[in-house]
Parts: sequence; structure tokens; C-alpha cells
Amino acid sequence: MNREINRTTNFVADAADFILEQAHKTIGERNEFRIALSGGNTPAPVYARLATIAHDLPWELVHITFGDERCVPPDDQQSNFRMARETLLAPAAVPEKSIMRMRGEIDPQIAAQEYQDHLDLMATQRGEPIYRHDLILLGLGDDGHTASLFPGTAALEEITRRVAANFVPKLNAWRLTFTFSLINHARHILFLVGVSKSPELIERVLEGDQQLPVARVNPTAGELTWMIEE
Ligand code: 6PG
Repeated sequence: MNREINRTTNFVADAADFILEQAHKTIGERNEFRIALSGGNTPAPVYARLATIAHDLPWELVHITFGDERCVPPDDQQSNFRMARETLLAPAAVPEKSIMRMRGEIDPQIAAQEYQDHLDLMATQRGEPIYRHDLILLGLGDDGHTASLFPGTAALEEITRRVAANFVPKLNAWRLTFTFSLINHARHILFLVGVSKSPELIERVLEGDQQLPVARVNPTAGELTWMIEE
């Protein structure tokens, strides 16, 4: 794994530029760009900025997935899809066919299975054993979770599924999430870490504290970039 750590006071602009550069480079190489969006609060301004600078990006060649989703309807305040739609998908007029939404409004097991089936189909169509994202965006939770892979939850131990329904006791809620096997299959992973994250947590993460789920993100044949706001 090739790891790069960028600390920046220009976080939103640098993160948006990084994503756009990856998109153009990948489309130039393979005529498509497969990106997984992360949820929560940190990415929102980055997506908004991306929508303003990506005016010449051929969005019809971009395939957008979601690394995780809350089990709520798409218009719920908690929905990661809603956040992405409001900040990026609508402002950038991303075509519907470029977006693969996790259906948080249905039974979690069914939603996870249908999402996994769709990714598997696309992988098979490309002759790949498992769908390989060009870029997966991930956040860092205060407890060291990423996507919806929370400490002490069942999905951490999932070694066969690519997408799982994961009950999170601390939230008393179900989540849909990529598993480590899907995440670690990516060509590139970008962690977006806002200034609100504690320096102690960041140090623990960068030292690879295995108590933290995020420490298990290790792209087997890919690159890992940390974009940390100062
Ligand atoms: C989610 C995210 C989650 C998020 C972290 C950090 O659905 O909440 O995917 O993994 O990235 O919790 O969230 P903030 O960016 O809001 O701190």
C-alpha cells in the first residue's frame, strides 16, 4: 500500500481539486470513473465545491456509488444520498444513470443484497472478480469508524460480502455499508478528515492502532491518501 498524508489549511479546495484531477486522469486512461461518495458532514462543502469546478467533467462517464447509507428514506435529513444530491448531484446535473443509490428506505438485508448484486453484475460485465472503484472517499468517525464500519459491530468481521447491513447498537440503528474487502479493492482511497477531528485520534489512526476499524483500510493494490484539515 502506497500512503500519502496531506495536511492543508485549504482543505475544501484541495480535496475537490484532488477528486477532479483523479476523475480526469482516470477517464483519460479508461474512459470511466468509478467513485464512491462518503457521508456525514465533512464531505458536504467538498461536494459543493466540486460541483462548481467540474463543469467540463463528462458526468455520463462517471459512476457514483455510496460507501454507506443510513437506513432512512432518500429525502430524510439523515440520508447521505440527500446530502450528496443537494451539494453535488443536483447542482452538477449528474445524470440519473450515473448514480447508484443505496435504498435506505427498504429492509436493510434486502437493500444490501441488491446493492451487492448490482456491483457484482458490473464487475462481471468488466471481467473483474470484484467491483474495483477508482476512488473511494471515506470519513473518520470520532470512535475510529469509517463508512458504517463501527467498533464492535458485525460488519467488521464480514469477509465474504461486499456490501452489508450492519446494526449499530450505539446508534440503535441499521446502516448499509461497504465491507473492508470491497473498500480494500479500490485503486485509490481518499480519507477526508476535517479540523473537528482530535489530533490524538488522527495520531492513533496514522500509527495504525488496530483497535480502530479505520486501521483495517489497506488497499491491497491501491493507493491511500489522507487529506487532513489544519
Ligand atoms: C456516515 C459516514 C461516516 C462519516 C464519519 C465522519 O454515514 O456518517 O459515512 O463514516 O464519514 O462518521 O463523519 P463527519 O464527517 O460528519 O465527521
